[in-house]
Amino acid sequence: MSQTVDRFVKRGFRSAAPYNAEHHDFAWQHRQLARMMSNECPIPPSEGVRAAVRDAFDIGHLYPYSGKDLVAALARYNSVPPESIVLGNGSTEVLDVLVRLLVGPGDETIIASPTYAFFESQTRINGGVPKAVPLTSSWDLDVEAMLGAITDKTTIIFLCSPNNPTGKGWRRDQLVRLLDTGIPTVVDQAYLECGYAESFAPLVADHPNLVIARTMSKGFGLAALRVGYLIGDPELIDIVQRVRIPFSISLMGIWGCLQALAEPEELKRRREFISSEADRLHAAMQKMDGVESYPSDGNFVLADISASGRSVSAVVDTLLAEDILIRAMGAHGLKGSHVRVTVGTIEQNDRFLKLFEELLLPVGQV
Ligand SMILES: Cc1ncc(COP(=O)(O)O)c(C=O)c1O
Repeated sequence: MSQTVDRFVKRGFRSAAPYNAEHHDFAWQHRQLARMMSNECPIPPSEGVRAAVRDAFDIGHLYPYSGKDLVAALARYNSVPPESIVLGNGSTEVLDVLVRLLVGPGDETIIASPTYAFFESQTRINGGVPKAVPLTSSWDLDVEAMLGAITDKTTIIFLCSPNNPTGKGWRRDQLVRLLDTGIPTVVDQAYLECGYAESFAPLVADHPNLVIARTMSKGFGLAALRVGYLIGDPELIDIVQRVRIPFSISLMGIWGCLQALAEPEELKRRREFISSEADRLHAAMQKMDGVESYPSDGNFVLADISASGRSVSAVVDTLLAEDILIRAMGAHGLKGSHVRVTVGTIEQNDRFLKLFEELLLPVGQV
């Protein structure tokens, strides 16, 4: 370790393990791939959104403004006051700020697992200790076990609803039991617009320890614009606002998202498409020998293929050779038995299902 690193870089940061984004880089280097690996929306932006983004780029020599009009539009969309919303460069930015505010060396976070890996990586980067509490065998939230994991060092309880990668949304009564502990509870609802899980935004008014993370990247399909937001207690939101970097949302992001929010019929169409294709993928995989798949309110479906006798890496690699990229779920603590496939276009989903079925045929039938 160099002297500079050893003497000056803060401890938690020296061995920081970043969120692993290798699959994104790989897909960008191989543009022919069907990107069924990173929970993007298969539908490109509407004509209206493209025009709004182009208008913004036409004056791309100017710094953007703070996006108060977008905050107001999101407040209306979620029926919450504007003071309870802070924008971020993707929900990733504001989740990062929140963890920096709440987690210091030795603090603990409780994470209902398997889930989005970012909660764990950000806890560690800030010197905290992530405590994973496993979901039940039917991928339900184990509220008792979560309550039992709380200590006087716990500073965040992390939930994701609908949960990535299992697809299930949590119930309001489960969340309220955790909120009653008074511990800051972050519910990442990135996939809310992909299906029909319940929005917990209305609970923020009565629970100052609840923070909801939301994004325009998934159901709205605007991942490249990098706009997300938190909904929470105005006092806490004000601190996040003061700590986050200025100008992190581009003018393209502000105007593109404003336009997307002004097109509710388009959002409805997207939600219906994603949800019905997720149901179709699940139903088809569930019928295959040796596959256990799970219903999903996200834009992805999780499948356990251990009973097929096939190895996850062999399945992923064979699909890759056919230009379909899906994800092995080792990174989510699923011990190499599960794959996650993101809803693609109808053609991509058809092709995936056909190849996946052929791959998993019992040995004698190949
Ligand atoms: C649960 C969850 N939260 C947040 C994100 C990232 O969201 P954003 O694009 O708003 O940074 C992802 C991306 O895959 C995710 O799965």
